[in-house]
Amino acid sequence: MTLERTPVTIVGAGPAGLLLSHLLAESGIESIVLDLRSRDEIEQTIRAGILEQGTVELLDGIPGSRARTVGHRHDGIELRFAGEGHRIDFPGLVGRSVWLYPQHEVLKDLIAARLAAGQDLRFGATVERVEDAGTTSPRVIGRHDDGTAFEIVSDFVVGADGSRSVVRPTVTGSSTGGYFREYPFAWFGILCEAPPSSEELIYSNSPEGFALISQRSETVQRMYFQCDPDTDVDAMSEADLWETLQARVPGTDLAEGPIFQRDVLRFRSFVAHELRHGRAALVGDAAHTVPPTGAKGMNLAIADVVLLHRALDALLRHADERALDAYAETALRRIWKAQHFSWWMTSLLHLSPEASDFDRLRQLGELRSVVESEAGQRYLAEAYTGWPLETGAHG
Ligand code: PHB
Repeated sequence: MTLERTPVTIVGAGPAGLLLSHLLAESGIESIVLDLRSRDEIEQTIRAGILEQGTVELLDGIPGSRARTVGHRHDGIELRFAGEGHRIDFPGLVGRSVWLYPQHEVLKDLIAARLAAGQDLRFGATVERVEDAGTTSPRVIGRHDDGTAFEIVSDFVVGADGSRSVVRPTVTGSSTGGYFREYPFAWFGILCEAPPSSEELIYSNSPEGFALISQRSETVQRMYFQCDPDTDVDAMSEADLWETLQARVPGTDLAEGPIFQRDVLRFRSFVAHELRHGRAALVGDAAHTVPPTGAKGMNLAIADVVLLHRALDALLRHADERALDAYAETALRRIWKAQHFSWWMTSLLHLSPEASDFDRLRQLGELRSVVESEAGQRYLAEAYTGWPLETGAHG
């Protein structure tokens, strides 16, 4: 058993945990970052693709970040329904844009930068539990892949360890404690080798169901279509997958190519009842989950980190607990706005299998209310490109 001490222990080497370690280091605060996965696993898991402008501006501070060079700026999206496409022009409406830059590329940049800066970053380190969060010396107890046990005593413990967080029970009192909602549909996602079918993302509401045409690079594309949550990911042939996608994006000839990955993404909304208990706090998916429709997941995690960094800076450098005491309340304002936006974009574009004709026609009315109104378009553009990151103690 090894016994160590560090100011902040961060559980989880995803975008939130890694960015927090960077911001803390800039404040002169050391940390240890632990993740049960290997570096390869972290760098290869396919996740989200859209970064808000504020997220990109933060990543600009990471030496070697490729968000602006390898990523692509997107100045709009298309909403397609009833056989017509409607472009939402982000810069024209709100003076902001988003960047298409896959999360695993963000992770490669962050891991390389943190290791180069001498960050104590440990892969294959499984945290079993957190103790004494109610004291000023919380302890993180776990085991390395080689079987050795470890215990780390800190001033503060951060749960950045995703939707199956092991830190969450310490903060909320249970592994599930939170506000929760499930949806009667999911997304079937594919990655294929093909050129882009469209310059910008197409969110398509069709009588056959929803589809999203996204991208990864000049040669790899990401596409999704609405499916039953219990769909067997291997049941459909490639030809069936293309036929399904094509039928849901009438008016666009999708460039087809070999499909090399498929997955089913379940839709969930979740917000933990508590985000902080004593000297432990949650950020990112450990604190909340959104359905993928508004592309908010990673961006929301980054917004939590900005707030928690400021709170820990005040606590550990100035013994000032005020920002920490305000952390949950301040973070929750943005979290619930993002929850609403993700739920709203989901309900705007998807119909549940039991939907009536009334539901379908009402939905078309709602879609028209958005695209035929500058105010409607602007709400979507503001939320999609990201509200300004909070700056003051109460934002
Ligand atoms: C993606 O490219 O994975 C993606 C893009 C936009 C979304 C969700 C996912 O709203």
